[in-house]
Amino acid sequence: MSEPFYITTPIYYVNDVPHIGHAYTTVTADALARWHRLAGDPTFFLTGTDEHGLKIQRSAEANGITPLEQADQTSARFKEVWELLNISNDDFIRTTEPRHIGSVQKFMQAIFDNGWIRKGSYSGHYCVPCEAYFNEADLVDGNCPIHGRPVEWFEEDNWFFELSKFEQPLLDWYAANPDCVQPEGKRNEALGIIKQGLEDVSVSRTSISWGVPVPWDEGHVFYVWYDALINYATAVGYGDDPERFAEWWPQVRHLLGKDILRFHCVYWPAMCLAAGIEPPKKLAVHGFLLVGGEKMSKTSLNQIFPADLVSDFGVDGFRYHFLRDNPFGPDGDFSYESMVTRYNADLANNLGNLLSRVATVVEKKCEGVGPAPAVDSPLAAIAAQSLTDTIAGWNNMTPSIALEATWRLVGAANAHLEANEPWKMEPGPAVDAVMGDALEVLRIVAILATPAMPVTCAEIWKRIGLSGSPVDAGVAGAAWGGYPGGRPVVKGDGLFPRMAKPSVG
Ligand code: MSP
Repeated sequence: MSEPFYITTPIYYVNDVPHIGHAYTTVTADALARWHRLAGDPTFFLTGTDEHGLKIQRSAEANGITPLEQADQTSARFKEVWELLNISNDDFIRTTEPRHIGSVQKFMQAIFDNGWIRKGSYSGHYCVPCEAYFNEADLVDGNCPIHGRPVEWFEEDNWFFELSKFEQPLLDWYAANPDCVQPEGKRNEALGIIKQGLEDVSVSRTSISWGVPVPWDEGHVFYVWYDALINYATAVGYGDDPERFAEWWPQVRHLLGKDILRFHCVYWPAMCLAAGIEPPKKLAVHGFLLVGGEKMSKTSLNQIFPADLVSDFGVDGFRYHFLRDNPFGPDGDFSYESMVTRYNADLANNLGNLLSRVATVVEKKCEGVGPAPAVDSPLAAIAAQSLTDTIAGWNNMTPSIALEATWRLVGAANAHLEANEPWKMEPGPAVDAVMGDALEVLRIVAILATPAMPVTCAEIWKRIGLSGSPVDAGVAGAAWGGYPGGRPVVKGDGLFPRMAKPSVG
């Protein structure tokens, strides 16, 4: 039985509408989930919205609506965009749902009952957009180091999670799980935070009401991060369905941006240990998508919205770009021009061209019927290597490496056509041999690229005359030799019309 694969995105704050930074993470999670379904692994893919806290309360006030109205409106926007981008999430969690409120209360009660929560008072510099406290030393010119905006001075009596007691347990957990955070640079960053020394953290508020009530102390609500992180446990039945929870936990992989590394790679594993459950299996951390060198934000007016790019590149063109060109780890500068370059190179000139050349030659020289591939084709070894590397790329949660490996096969098939020039040959066994091999490459690529481009791959499958879909064939069906031959091949419109480079100035 294969291992369960449970993947999550961060839950998005409902004060902001979805932009390509959010889409980048969600498309990556989607492609990984689709890969694991294709491989036959039991898969669960969760995304959702983070709806409590001061930031949402204030944003609702500014918009003249209630926080719940704000949450309803914006979570609907996220759902719409995920539908547009063909996101196949199994669940969409909202932190205002009763199932989540109950789960937070049980989770935090477990930490309390285990003796890791104490009463205390807190004062400190608070950044509302971050929903986080900062030490004096963290501030840059007195401002939040992430948002560059003034912080607010808060003083409160509240409940503290004794994070300081988890320094050693966390170091032990990191030592026992060397791959828990990837890439390595981010793992070192997390270890650095722990080694610097951890202070207890306040987990409740009395100054706001928009949150989950603390079950053992009326008048307190949980601080939004201690409510939010628990969503990952709620969705698989924490505190409600122990059998279901055991099925998915701790086989959970969280995707997250570098700004929330501390919460996910330090606080969350400590909270899990304190509550008596295992910490997550994997935390994959990505950098920011920058626009003109800057982080996208509402205030900088530099946000780019998925729908605008989808109208130019199509859904699969959009998905392919973000998966192929933005490996997890470093920041990446988004540029429309490099998106066009990648689209033209990989999709129009390489994959799209392969399909249209094959369909044209099969129509003209093979009476529109696809021949079968040769067992000893020169492309078979390349296909086998590409399959091995594609599997490794997806299994290591590195889509750009997986896609690069798949596209090596597409490139090899085009080179094979160019070397043999079947369009110049007379109809007969020589043309059939070349076309059979090229059709087999298209079949294999339609399977392997499905996680990135589900609609395109299903279309290729249909055009080369196969029944069912690449999803039915699965990764197991991607070995050389599966194209049966004797199937009608349909030319159809170009999959990826070439795009003109935008002119500058
Ligand atoms: N609500 C919290 C997460 C709680 S998870 C238990 C939050 N929400 S957020 O909406 O502000 O950010 C969600 C994710 O979007 C984060 O991983 C963040 O890094 C990511 N991004 C927001 N802007 C981004 C870019 N410009 N580029 C890439 N990702 C960015 O934090």
